[in-house]
Amino acid sequence: MSEGHRSEGTALWGARFASPLDPAILEFTGSLHFDCRLVRHDIVAGLAHARMLLETGILERAEAETVLHGLAGMLAEIESGSLRVDGPDEDVHTWIERTLTERIGPAAGRLHTARSRNDQVGAALRLYVREAVLATSSSLLSLLETWLSQSSEHLTTWMPGYTHLQRAQPVSLAHHLLAHFWALEADGDRLRAAHRHAGVSPLGAGALAGTRHPIDLHRTAALLGFPKVCPNTLLAVADRDYVAETAFVCALLVLHLSRWAEEVVLWTSREFGFARLSDSVAQGSSLMPQKRNPEAAELIRGKSGRAIGDLTALLAMLKGLPFAYNSDLQEDKEPLFDALDTAAGCLEATRGTAAGLTFNVGRLRSALDAGFVTATDLADLLVERGTPFREAHRLAGLAVRQAEEDGRELWEMSPGDLAAISSEIDAEMVGALRPESAAAARRSYGAPSPERVREQLEEAKAAVGRLAEWIAEQGPPPIYAAYLERRLVAEELTSA
Ligand code: ARG
Repeated sequence: MSEGHRSEGTALWGARFASPLDPAILEFTGSLHFDCRLVRHDIVAGLAHARMLLETGILERAEAETVLHGLAGMLAEIESGSLRVDGPDEDVHTWIERTLTERIGPAAGRLHTARSRNDQVGAALRLYVREAVLATSSSLLSLLETWLSQSSEHLTTWMPGYTHLQRAQPVSLAHHLLAHFWALEADGDRLRAAHRHAGVSPLGAGALAGTRHPIDLHRTAALLGFPKVCPNTLLAVADRDYVAETAFVCALLVLHLSRWAEEVVLWTSREFGFARLSDSVAQGSSLMPQKRNPEAAELIRGKSGRAIGDLTALLAMLKGLPFAYNSDLQEDKEPLFDALDTAAGCLEATRGTAAGLTFNVGRLRSALDAGFVTATDLADLLVERGTPFREAHRLAGLAVRQAEEDGRELWEMSPGDLAAISSEIDAEMVGALRPESAAAARRSYGAPSPERVREQLEEAKAAVGRLAEWIAEQGPPPIYAAYLERRLVAEELTSA
């Protein structure tokens, strides 16, 4: 048995096999090179499990303390960088078990009472997701703050709003920037939901059907800061919806950034000339000495495709997967990590690019001088004087045609010029067609008049405050907090 016994070397489950695993298969099925990211989270989940085993009397005090000390020591070395996850092991869970066994001997095996890698990986991944989502929320928060302060400087910086990428109606730059702000602010809500949905403990489900040991799943969940315990052990090991949801939020968030980034690319072009990138964020060309390329913005745009790919890979992996655990689920990690990394990188690059962007106020304003952007306002003014909107639309269309022929803007026409179109048109009406006046008259809720945008800014500040408050309320999992406070094994971890 000794020659072919698989537990020598890497496998934890070698006993029932007569010959060793093909190294090529181990290499193919191994996940250590990417799930090593979960090492802290898996050790923390192990601490909670061991503590619960002690409290329920499933483990004897001496053994439990040995396990807790061993795990805490590994955690400290991992955090200081003196211990690195590396070796011939199948995955990070196997690596932790082997390393712990090397340190404390057979007592390490006690940690696996009433626990399988199937519920173990779920617990570690959920802890990881909650931590990463919180970090993403903090980056999002600083971007929202940057955006908000930029918006507040441009309440009367007038520019065309676009539909079909054609000049449509006058808005302020503040109003335009706030449109992007709100899309991202909703992502903050989605991150909070993803954090909540990841807060369901799978620990105690074992391989799939629970255990005969008298465990306390709610205690383990509480030690890990999970507000809920999964109500079904099969689902506990099969569920990756929180992974898909997190990847979705990342994809949507990066997609939102890509829409802003595309405007940076357009607006910093000479054709638009609406904005300029500072030297610290523009990049040159290796061949054309004059270039100032918006490369970070282009890459934010480009990386949105990648985040969508990560989400697609996850959904495709989950589709049709029978309950409960299947090895396919191991394929959840790389796309999840990539989606989170991509979101983090794009948020940081967006914040930097946004801070390095200065707007050309004159150029934005002069874009309103061509394009008849107040034609709708002419129609609306005629409606105010009793004309039905369809007829008013027709009359305003005729006015635009006339103005175009004359090579003038609507507000440059005299009432006399327009009298043939409608006798209702007077000098006051023509004056109201200046873009500033027209924008200021749009006072409906959420519209661009400066007083409405001022209210919008107040709402935006309140929303930012709520996100900041939520972030501040979150803390590390209680058992990890106890470890961080160095009350570790001495009292917090082992006193029943
Ligand atoms: N490495 C696996 C994963 O990431 C965890 C182990 C699952 N259990 C098993 N029997 N292979 O999902």
